[in-house]
Amino acid sequence: MDTDNSDKNSLYELIGGDAALRLLVDRFYDLMDLEPEFKSLRAMHPAVLDGSRDKLYFFLSGWMGGPDLYTPRFGNAFLRARHLPFKIGSQERDEWLTCMLLSMRDLNYSEQTQDVLLNCLFGTADWMRNKTD
Ligand code: HEM
Repeated sequence: MDTDNSDKNSLYELIGGDAALRLLVDRFYDLMDLEPEFKSLRAMHPAVLDGSRDKLYFFLSGWMGGPDLYTPRFGNAFLRARHLPFKIGSQERDEWLTCMLLSMRDLNYSEQTQDVLLNCLFGTADWMRNKTD
């Protein structure tokens, strides 16, 4: 019996599945760690990024339409509530999205894939805003 419930037309499939997602998340945090333009974004995160890497990877797997790796480990993400301790306005949102865009470019995503993924991420990142600009 087929027990794979993942969506074959998902973002997850579009980017190339599990290994590709792990590469994307790792590139995202590498850039956040390395690039001066992401200094303030980096400063919100823990000194050691291993936990952040794992959590974003687990979360995005399900969010992109692949296997839900987050909920079995941590329960409901309550994503917006979890971001309330951090002051997030348009600038922080855009830095986060730019970091993701540069990661996709580094990994040679097609222009079309970059657009599709960025548009979807925009909605979630924008929803995370919790301070007026
Ligand atoms: C809008 C700009 C964003 C900022 C400034 C931001 C910042 C942060 C920070 C500082 C943390 C806590 C450090 C950590 O636990 O790793 C965090 C956690 C997390 N973020 Fe974001 N984030 C943003 C957008 C997003 C988006 C768009 C997603 C998903 C699509 C996301 C998913 C997560 C997840 C899954 C966690 C871990 C939650 C947990 O289990 O504790 N974030 N974020």
